[in-house]
Amino acid sequence: MTDITLAPIQPDQPSHLMATYGRQAISFVRGRGAYLYTEDGTEYLDALTGIAVCGLGHAHPVIAEAIAEQAATLVHTSNLFEIPWQTAAAQKLAEVSGMEEIFFSNSGAESNEGAIKIARKFGTQQGVRLPKIIVAEQSFHGRTLATLSATGNKKVQDGFAPLVNDFIRVPFGDVEAIQEAALQHPDIVAILIEPIQGEGGINTAPQGFSYLEEVRNICNQHNWLMMLDEIQTGNGRTGKYFAYQHTNIVPDVLTTAKGLGNGFPVGAVMTQGKAVGLLGPGSHGSTYGGTVLGSRVVYTVIDTIQKENAVENAAVVGRYIVDQLRVQLADKNVQVRGFGMMIGIQLPKDCAELVAIARDQHKLIINVTAGSVVRLLPPINMTQVQADDLLERLVALINNYL
Ligand SMILES: Cc1ncc(COP(=O)(O)O)c(C=O)c1O
Repeated sequence: MTDITLAPIQPDQPSHLMATYGRQAISFVRGRGAYLYTEDGTEYLDALTGIAVCGLGHAHPVIAEAIAEQAATLVHTSNLFEIPWQTAAAQKLAEVSGMEEIFFSNSGAESNEGAIKIARKFGTQQGVRLPKIIVAEQSFHGRTLATLSATGNKKVQDGFAPLVNDFIRVPFGDVEAIQEAALQHPDIVAILIEPIQGEGGINTAPQGFSYLEEVRNICNQHNWLMMLDEIQTGNGRTGKYFAYQHTNIVPDVLTTAKGLGNGFPVGAVMTQGKAVGLLGPGSHGSTYGGTVLGSRVVYTVIDTIQKENAVENAAVVGRYIVDQLRVQLADKNVQVRGFGMMIGIQLPKDCAELVAIARDQHKLIINVTAGSVVRLLPPINMTQVQADDLLERLVALINNYL
């Protein structure tokens, strides 16, 4: 154990951190399962899990042991060598995703960069000089230059012109707009969408998951790659291992991150069918992608999700939370939506201040997205008892507020 004790952060203390985040004036020193603890031992129920990251909860003993053991054995060699844990992690991920090829990265944005490169390579191989990719309004794909250009949120792009070209934007769920774009742009090669828009406000398409089937058909019709961003919806979050598994289709390209490492920074871009083999030696890479340690974490996270039946749990307990919220908030003007442990409560007014009220008065960690949507991303292995605890705090919070 380290003998360094950090002094508590003072509100007026000068900081060397770039001010990219409006941070809450609280820090947690310890976590266990669905709960977080401050230095003085105050317990908070975490219904955010680091924004859909710690799906198996905090300090999961099996993951912690794997990290500690591997850190004390071998952390990194490089992709210049065989990495048996990387091969094993890819095998596991292929099993749960139905995909054939996997490239490990370190974040969601980096995984989507890989997808964008795959789409361009696909187009180039078909002789398309300037390949275009369809993306959706209100989407979020990351903060790198290409992924912020793909993102459907002006605030994310503001000040970063010139953006990466050749993304064609359509309203989420609007199949006719896609067909219209196909008529106007013969050089479209792919479409990139989230099955449920997370940052955009927990939005499914108006027609539900059948939108994905409609998109799959259009992609088949035009020989485009269907690419799904499951950075947030993957790894059991929505009650299936990947959200597209609520349907009968399979995408050509699939990206994930967040819950894949339960807090350890890893991501993946995966391909199957006609997207296989597009990236070869020299065309893509990452020093840290798929390190020995990162790969062992991925393997252990997937294995633990499987052994705990956490995906099934997310479906059942998530359904219970949604049903209870609909009953208990029936007299309020709210709309509850979501799948599994990805739940949004649309309030009739902007409610950003609820984050602080939940934290200070109810010892509950939540997030508000798209201005008026309370976003819940609890651990996917949350128990029924913890779900009741969450409901009690949340219903009191919203009842007092509205
Ligand atoms: C759907 C989606 N894509 C991409 C990203 C970017 O992931 P990262 O922050 O790991 O780069 C996020 C993060 O919130 C996301 O929700």
